[in-house]
Amino acid sequence: MVKVTVPATTANIGPGFDTLGLALNLYNTYTFEEINEGLVFEGCSDKYKNTENLVYQSFAKTAKLLEKNINGLKITMDTHIPVSRGLGSSSACIVGGVFGANALLQGNLSKDELFKIAVEIEGHPDNVAPAVYGGLTATIVENGVYSVNYSISDKIRFCALIPGFETSTHDARKILPSIVSFKDAIFNVSRTAVLLKALEEGNFELISISLKDMLHQQYRKTLISEYDEVKKVCMENGSHAFFISGSGPTLMNITDDPDFIKNMENSIKCLKNKWDMKFLSADKSGVIIK
Ligand code: HSE
Repeated sequence: MVKVTVPATTANIGPGFDTLGLALNLYNTYTFEEINEGLVFEGCSDKYKNTENLVYQSFAKTAKLLEKNINGLKITMDTHIPVSRGLGSSSACIVGGVFGANALLQGNLSKDELFKIAVEIEGHPDNVAPAVYGGLTATIVENGVYSVNYSISDKIRFCALIPGFETSTHDARKILPSIVSFKDAIFNVSRTAVLLKALEEGNFELISISLKDMLHQQYRKTLISEYDEVKKVCMENGSHAFFISGSGPTLMNITDDPDFIKNMENSIKCLKNKWDMKFLSADKSGVIIK
């Protein structure tokens, strides 16, 4: 039996569209066990108990690459990452399945090789890299995938506002322009570079200035009900930076105020959608196999 624990992630982080990602201390754990026959799921709703299940699909793809067979498989899920909210739930499923297969079937693939398989399944590396390596990552896709880690100050605390509704990454990508202006490109390139240093130093003033974006959020916010209202409440309560987590709809803040959630409670309750507020911090470990 093997147990794989995978962190949630927040991708893009403002200007670092399709590049930056950060692992968060919110986890899904998948337990894989060989059984005599069949495919059994525990801990998920009935609609996910079939061969379309992303954890199973990722397990099966990796098993095939390893050229290993199994009599039957039981997957038990203990999940805390909200689904389709821009917090890397799909990446967690994929990383869980890929690393689970390699561990259960005693494959000899390295972490880097497993990372590449997971990226191939997911399509974008910016959620997969932090889920695998932990911490703050930057990735490039060019004839393969490259990932590097940056350090992030322990002073930085995130506050996620997670709505009751879902959005689709497909729709959030379709709404983006195919051409951007030189000015907007420079806006993001300069801020991405400065943001990495600001996050390393825990420099909130520099984070406020550099965690801005002209490439995706102005288009995507139209898909997120009450984006402007939530942003207003967060900024009034001293958020250092406000951004869409991944392709949304979760809205993320950087704060150093332990009372941030308490201070916002009344205003957030008055909005028409239900917004769950959650303090999160960086996970530095990435995927863990036991
Ligand atoms: N960078 C991706 C996006 C993350 O924002 O569309 C979701 O896979």
